[in-house]
Formats: sequence, structure tokens, C-alpha cells
Amino acid sequence: MSHDNSIRKGVTRQKLDELHAAAKGDRWRFVAMAPRLAMGMLRGKSLMEMISSDAMNECFIPISPMQGEFLYVTARALGVKNIVEFGTSFGISTIYLAAALKDSGGGRVISTELEPNKCKKARENLKQAGVAEYAEIREGDAMETLADLSEPVDLVLLDGWKDLYLPVLELIKPNLRPGSIILADNIFTFRKALRPYVEYMQSGENGFSSTTLDIADGFEYSVYLG
Ligand SMILES: C[S@@+](CC[C@H](N)C(=O)[O-])C[C@H]1O[C@@H](n2cnc3c(N)ncnc32)[C@H](O)[C@@H]1O
Repeated sequence: MSHDNSIRKGVTRQKLDELHAAAKGDRWRFVAMAPRLAMGMLRGKSLMEMISSDAMNECFIPISPMQGEFLYVTARALGVKNIVEFGTSFGISTIYLAAALKDSGGGRVISTELEPNKCKKARENLKQAGVAEYAEIREGDAMETLADLSEPVDLVLLDGWKDLYLPVLELIKPNLRPGSIILADNIFTFRKALRPYVEYMQSGENGFSSTTLDIADGFEYSVYLG
């Protein structure tokens, strides 16, 4: 275990700053999409349906810098080795997680992303951030790319489209060990779509202890009790 904190210095910090700055451009991408979103709403489409359309291919929709710090320290505090992430986008959250593994002596993030262009960019970004060897980006639908996990999973980040949080969690559940941590983003923004997930995690009947943290858009923090 080293005392390094690579998210605070060098190429990792530089790349994170560059990506967080580029992600601020999402607000203009959303403005450009507004007419299309309004049409969708008039046609009765749900926010989830519209948000998962091709129009989002260029959007980062990343975790916040504070969530990144939180992910980093969580991964470091527990000596985590195997991390699974649903929803890579351009790799911002993956860089925080991979940096924690690098600084604590090794491990691997398996992250998955539907969009080929985002996968390519995420791999480049991880390389430029100096943490590529700690991450594997699996291109495709999480329900397929995460179906063959062989190692026990210590930490999970759920940040893909919201209707799949529960199915993806159920897919990974056999690989969890008592004490594994599951973080799920956007609980406040997608309250309705994520209600089944939050109820499942907080009911106390499915092997989890869970609470919603008031960080960014709401971060569900769950521990698997076995
Ligand atoms: C909110 S973004 C992820 C942001 C990323 N975690 C970060 O902080 O930079 C969600 C991503 O999940 C991807 N995604 C959605 N459904 C997916 C699925 N079924 N399998 C794999 N990736 C998916 C989307 O293409 C999108 O890029």
C-alpha cells in the first residue's frame, strides 16, 4: 500500500481536469437536444427512453469531482482489488477507480459501455491518465459483457441507464462477497425509474444494508451482508 494519491497530481489530475472541463459542454449539447426532447415528451416518451437515444452519444453525463473523490477513497480504504462499473462513457469515473487500484498496489476495474466511440475514447483517456493497465473496457450491453465474471467483486459502480440497475445488480450478485460495496448514481434525478432499485436495496430482505447519500444527484451506498 503506497501513500501516493495520483488523482491529486501529474497526468492523472491533468486528464481528470481536462475531462471534467470538457463535460461542462454537456449543457450546450442538452440545449441543442431540447426541441427533440420536447417532441418526445409530447409523444408520451419517458425521460429514460429519450435519454437512452442516440442523441446522448456525445454527452459525458459524468459523476461529479466530489463523487470521484468519494469513489477514490472508498476504493482505497477497503483494499479493493476487483471493481465492476456499469456505464463507462468517456471514462471519468473509471479513471478515479483505476487510480485507486494503482495507488493501492493493483487490481482491475471491469467497466462496460454500449457506444463503440465512447469505448475508444475511454481507452485513450485511461492511457493518457496513466492508469490504463488497471482497467478493462468491455464494449456492449452490460447484461452480456458482465455475464461471465469469475472473480469476487469488491466494489460496484452503477451509472448506466437506470432501468438496468436492478437487472445488472442481480447479474453481479453471485460474485459479491460479504462487505462488498455497491454505489449507484442519480437516485434523485431518476427517483421514479430507480424506486424499485432503492426499495430492493433498502428493504433489508435482499442481503443489503443501504442508504441514499446526499452527494450530487444522490448516491445510493449499499453494503452486501451476504
Ligand atoms: C451516465 S453515463 C456514465 C458516466 C460515467 N460513469 C462517468 O462518470 O464518466 C452512462 C453510460 O452508460 C452507457 N450505457 C447505458 N446502457 C448501457 C448498457 N446496457 N450497457 C453498457 N453501457 C450502457 C451509456 O451509453 C452511457 O455512456
